[in-house]
Amino acid sequence: PPQDPPGPLEDTSAKLVYDDAHPWIAPGPNDMRGPCPALNTLASHGYLPRNGIATPAQIITAVMEGKEPSNLGVNRHSGFNMENGIAKLATYAALLVDGNPVTNLLSIGGKSSTTGEDLPQPAVVGGLNTHDVFEGDASMSRADSFFGDNYSFNPTLWDEFVDFSNRFGAGKYNLTVAGELRRQRVQDSISTNPTFSFVAPRYFIAYGESVFPINFFVDGRQTDKQLDPNDALAFFRDMKYPDGFFRTGQPMGIEGVEAVIAAHPVAPGANRGTVNSYTPDPNSADFSNICLLYVNFVNQTIRNLYPNPTGVLKDALNRNLDFLYEFFDTLACPQIFPYGQ
Ligand code: HEM
Ligand code: MG
Repeated sequence: PPQDPPGPLEDTSAKLVYDDAHPWIAPGPNDMRGPCPALNTLASHGYLPRNGIATPAQIITAVMEGKEPSNLGVNRHSGFNMENGIAKLATYAALLVDGNPVTNLLSIGGKSSTTGEDLPQPAVVGGLNTHDVFEGDASMSRADSFFGDNYSFNPTLWDEFVDFSNRFGAGKYNLTVAGELRRQRVQDSISTNPTFSFVAPRYFIAYGESVFPINFFVDGRQTDKQLDPNDALAFFRDMKYPDGFFRTGQPMGIEGVEAVIAAHPVAPGANRGTVNSYTPDPNSADFSNICLLYVNFVNQTIRNLYPNPTGVLKDALNRNLDFLYEFFDTLACPQIFPYGQ
């Protein structure tokens, strides 16, 4: 059953997170890993269950800040110093579309029986690898689902990351590089993927992910926010903290995203079944209408998966929709209740 989300914590200092209590252990054959380099890393260091199956409270705690005794029975020593509001938004969005709201478990990779019995179709409960509900196209280190594998580290794409860091960042990944690489990844997909889709929620997530490496993968003792691609590779490919890594010294979220958006503005849209047919989609939310992101995510993405929930499923969905809304409440978006109040 759903539990209350962990709140913000007190100790937000930079500190060693690759410590003796969190040794890196390579995932075993049954351990789930997927498209998010941060969650993969947290699982391989034991900040998340090493099998890659976790509750929302475990995920929020693991990505967040601080170290303090828990009132929730979870170990609150956490790995990245992500700010509480964004952590809750990403986690409840993921649980609602990729997880099992009844057992309160989410796979950070592929579908797993460990998250519980299947829910009535068309629910998927497929883990973070599931295409098009959270995971989407034009990722930096993973290929588009159209090409077969949307979750494994892709060395060819990595070469582009390094090349852009060399060309636009004097060898480091920074906000300038993020703006250029974001456009490049969109152009790559427009010209090679006939099914390319870049509408909300993916549209928003893509821009957030472009700045996450700068905000979270740079060592917390370093203040210049220039990410060495070798350190980035530890996260993206090896699912591992660089040796002696300190997390960032203040709670962070999507800082810097305006610069990435402004570098090369793109309207949300999609190819129309052929390459090079990108067409803006006026029904998608964009940065001028963030409440529409919430409304469409609830009324389209979630309702497509759960058209008519009843009983414990309906109660769990409502509870988690309330948690999801907490972020949009701070933006003064009106709450919507697809399954009643
Ligand atoms: C990508 C989920 C937290 C960094 C992704 C993707 C998912 C995901 C589903 C794949 C999207 C795609 O590229 O198609 C989550 C969830 C989180 C979370 C549920 C819970 C809070 C974080 C944190 C960081 C992070 C804390 C940074 C420390 C990234 C990056 C990517 C990514 C950099 C882009 C990978 C790429 O473009 O190749 N995440 N994530 N995520 N995530 Fe996370
Ligand atoms: Mg992707």
